[in-house]
Amino acid sequence: MTHHVLVTRKIPQEGIDILLRNDCRVEINPEDRPVTRDELLGGAGRADGVLSQMVDRIDKDVLETASRVRIFSNFAVGFNNVDLGSATRLGIMITNTPGVLTDTTADLAWALLFAAARRIVEGDRLTRAGLFKDFSPTFFLGTDITGKTLGIIGAGRIGTAMALRSAGFRMNVLYCDAEPNRVLEKDLQAKRVGLDDLLKQSDFVSVHVPLLPETVHLIGPRELGVMKKSAFLINTSRGPVVDEKALVQALKSKTIAGAGLDVYEHEPALEPGLAEQDNAILLPHIGSATLETRIKMATTAAENLVAGLKGIRPPNLVNVEVWDSPARKRHG
Ligand code: DGY
Repeated sequence: MTHHVLVTRKIPQEGIDILLRNDCRVEINPEDRPVTRDELLGGAGRADGVLSQMVDRIDKDVLETASRVRIFSNFAVGFNNVDLGSATRLGIMITNTPGVLTDTTADLAWALLFAAARRIVEGDRLTRAGLFKDFSPTFFLGTDITGKTLGIIGAGRIGTAMALRSAGFRMNVLYCDAEPNRVLEKDLQAKRVGLDDLLKQSDFVSVHVPLLPETVHLIGPRELGVMKKSAFLINTSRGPVVDEKALVQALKSKTIAGAGLDVYEHEPALEPGLAEQDNAILLPHIGSATLETRIKMATTAAENLVAGLKGIRPPNLVNVEVWDSPARKRHG
């Protein structure tokens, strides 16, 4: 039996090949841009399964229009773009791509940390502008990383990988999470502390929580005020976790020393004033953007989708409760 699959944006061919080998008739957005709302509604209305992107808003209206869709396979580890409650109620499976992007994203968080601490981007700009005149003992001073305190907010897969990379820099590691993390405590003698203690003591604060109603603006003016004046904030999770207006103020007034950001509150737009701050490193949401990882994300998303369409429990089912629900079984 052939399944009609909507792929909302071009992905590495390896993922498409899996769909084609598994009896899928693939409809791909012909242009390399996000689908419009109308295209998403129209396409989801025709499909049995959708391979979606994290910028596709899979809300109640889309889910209700997608009357034949059994599974939305999100090409991302994050799934804050999906109304999970409505999907579960309607018996629609939602999957993500965890694991395959952990190291790549942790690497990028470190790249931001280094770049912020040692003023790499600013230095590159200055050199290209011909402003490197001579070596000076007091010129362009950054801050050391070795021996400092790293604070990890959210010690899940990516937060743990970020922390483990600090071993080479003999860092003191603090983390904040609902659950104790035995790996970090055993391998790094990391200490689990409350958010304020972490913010007060850390030289580098790296954010790795999912976007949930309770994590929106987890870092706001009060939290930025608690951080050391010499500290840096790194965010590779989701933009709305940080109150970006407050961050611009904190960067301007030097309440904190700097920030390294890969994600933004109103992505892709930047909060006015952010781009003018030399103490901020700004990347275009490329945490998982390596060739190897994007291929793995494509194959993982395709395998999730094929499993769901064949009636096999997908390896990365997010709304696990849907599996045994009568609503899902009605979809066949
Ligand atoms: C994710 O997977 O959630 C990233 O933000 C996009 O790669």
